[in-house]
Amino acid sequence: MERAGQESWEGTKPVRLVAIGAGNRTSKYVEYARRYPERLQLVGVVEVNKTRLQNIAKEFNLTSSQCFADYNDFFAQPFQTDAVLIATPEDLHYDPCIKAINAGYHVLLEKPIAQRLDECNDIAKRAREKGVKVGVCHVLRYHPYFQKIKEIVDSGELGTIISINHVVSVGLDRSLHGFVRGLWRREEVSNPMLIAKCCHDIDFLLWLINSPCRRLSSFGSLRWFRSENAPSGSSDRCINCKIEKQCPYSAVDLYYNRRSWIANFDVPEGKTQEEVLLEELQHGMYGRCVFHCDNNVVDHQVLSMETENEVTVNFSMDIFTNEDCRETHIKLTHGEIDGNETRLRVRHFRTNEDRIFDFSDIAKKPFHAGADLNIVDDFVKAVSCKEYPLKTPIDKSVESHRVCFVAEQSRLTGQTVYL
Ligand SMILES: NC(=O)c1ccc[n+]([C@@H]2O[C@H](COP(=O)([O-])OP(=O)(O)OC[C@H]3O[C@@H](n4cnc5c(N)ncnc54)[C@H](O)[C@@H]3O)[C@@H](O)[C@H]2O)c1
Repeated sequence: MERAGQESWEGTKPVRLVAIGAGNRTSKYVEYARRYPERLQLVGVVEVNKTRLQNIAKEFNLTSSQCFADYNDFFAQPFQTDAVLIATPEDLHYDPCIKAINAGYHVLLEKPIAQRLDECNDIAKRAREKGVKVGVCHVLRYHPYFQKIKEIVDSGELGTIISINHVVSVGLDRSLHGFVRGLWRREEVSNPMLIAKCCHDIDFLLWLINSPCRRLSSFGSLRWFRSENAPSGSSDRCINCKIEKQCPYSAVDLYYNRRSWIANFDVPEGKTQEEVLLEELQHGMYGRCVFHCDNNVVDHQVLSMETENEVTVNFSMDIFTNEDCRETHIKLTHGEIDGNETRLRVRHFRTNEDRIFDFSDIAKKPFHAGADLNIVDDFVKAVSCKEYPLKTPIDKSVESHRVCFVAEQSRLTGQTVYL
């Protein structure tokens, strides 16, 4: 984490935080409270899933008066906390966020901000009126590799950005788990995939370019994971399927054989992981054939945009790849930068010399290479010190969300949209 010596806000009391939603993301962010209890204390949790509520309450010694199954009960009375973390599913961001702001709590809000642009704007407006800080968990701004790109661009050593190619390979395993079978498969429950998955990328690109989007167009569809593409002989569940052994999308292979993407399968007391996996394959949503799910988000999308300062951006998001990374190629007036999260190359046109930055040692490190902890660190500082500016304030984040919502409008209408 980027801490250099004693800082002015240090020595103040720990920031008190209540987590709403105690799933995957919260388990990452509370690592900060585990490591630095003198800076952050988890003083409450709201979670509908009993097993998760019990686990986190036990770990942080929370009493029953600090645990809630319904966030309306939590907000119904004043509670001794400075801030709230909102890490619930995407259709449950806006309402608790507005309630937290109205109660005067600072908010660390998981992305996407909300499901509609007017809701995003409303959160920003109410936070301003109420004088509370809302930080959005745009992890790339806190990630050492992406920060290095920003540092090089801002240094001016390569001149001015002219264009950027940015490719997001979401990765087949991640996509099947999240966007075909799982929690982000339906846009009305989560969001269109560009917003759910790539609001980080649009935020990163606008952060680099430092100029608003002027116009854009976008194309994409759900091309493959539809029932009419189911191969003959396939069945509704991989565990009963005759052609499972040849299928690259098999849930049996992903979860049971390879034990990948199983972190969100809770193992209740008295059960084994083996039993939970088999039960999921037989009856759960993750055991379904990818051609017989109720998914409706795209499986590929492109976006072209031009910013006010005439930078052009080519963006594409693909799931048909084993890669799970972001590749960026930035062309500037005096050189170029290209990288894939493990290696970053910086080239000056005049000298034709390459400078290589190697990130392979941190690329697969936990907590998004430490970025998750950097997010919380930034938020804790901002809550402790009124003057400290968040790296991802809500106003900036609304701007990148606006581009994503407009891109979706363009994809659906087939028109270039002027912002
Ligand atoms: N910043 C990132 O890199 C990143 C990565 C993945 C997910 N996310 C976002 O984080 C958010 C949470 O995702 P996740 O992966 O932790 O999902 P998750 O399903 O693991 O966790 C969400 C939790 O919210 C709980 N919940 C549901 N309804 C609730 C309610 N009414 N009150 C209280 N709790 C409730 C669920 O039981 C679950 O435990 C989503 O918005 C997602 O898009 C961000």
